[in-house]
Amino acid sequence: MAAPALDPHQRVIGIIFGPPGSGKGTQGARVEAEFHLAHLSTGEILRAEASRRTAVGRKAARVMAAGDLVPDELINDIVERRLRRPDVQSGVLLDGFPRTVEQAEALDAMLARDGRQVDFVIALEVPERVLVERLINRAREQGRADDTRNAITERMHEYRTLTAAVLDYYRRRGVRVMEIAGVGRVETVFERIRKAMAGPIPSPLGGEDAH
Ligand code: AP5
Repeated sequence: MAAPALDPHQRVIGIIFGPPGSGKGTQGARVEAEFHLAHLSTGEILRAEASRRTAVGRKAARVMAAGDLVPDELINDIVERRLRRPDVQSGVLLDGFPRTVEQAEALDAMLARDGRQVDFVIALEVPERVLVERLINRAREQGRADDTRNAITERMHEYRTLTAAVLDYYRRRGVRVMEIAGVGRVETVFERIRKAMAGPIPSPLGGEDAH
């Protein structure tokens, strides 16, 4: 098997992107382990805040249960603080962020202050019928608060109307977007990601150009 092409000494900024249920969390954990990037899921951060019943968590829990997006300023602030922590300094894989073009612009501004930029996007593609099946199954097995029929419908709507445009934002900016078929076994999907990641990252900060 080919070795990961990412240079572990670079502070690589990647994004795992896709609709609800596309496998961002599942594959993000594998990418973290294989490529030594800190997997930073905004959904996980918000659920942790909600279970601790912090002020942010209580507000976010209501919004999440309805399948809506929490306000951009709130999530931008959480991500900015998280990106300053030492455990993400060798590289990060963002999961669930950015979710609006405004968040993508805010992320670019945060990274630019540090001379960095987004290096790549892994975009998982899964038909909506399969997404809904996965989330309904998870509702039966785990009972996540936003895996109800109504919340799933709303999450899909938010994805189509607000989030999908983020991919074009990155394409227009010349960021490497890797489209990955997200159907099939978890291992099969991960193997597709591994193969796509084997190419150089065409960014001034990552891959071959950095040396
Ligand atoms: P978030 O936690 O990001 O949820 P999501 O985008 O709806 O995605 P999921 O976690 O449901 O799915 P996933 O793509 O991670 O797939 P997973 O691997 O879990 O966000 C939740 C909420 O937080 C948002 O709705 C919003 O309210 C708020 N929020 C978060 N970030 C925000 C932001 N930036 N701005 C504003 N609001 C924000 O897999 C899903 C299921 O499928 C699992 O059961 C898994 O086991 C299964 N599965 C995965 N891969 C496969 C496979 N290949 N075959 C079969 N089953 C599979």
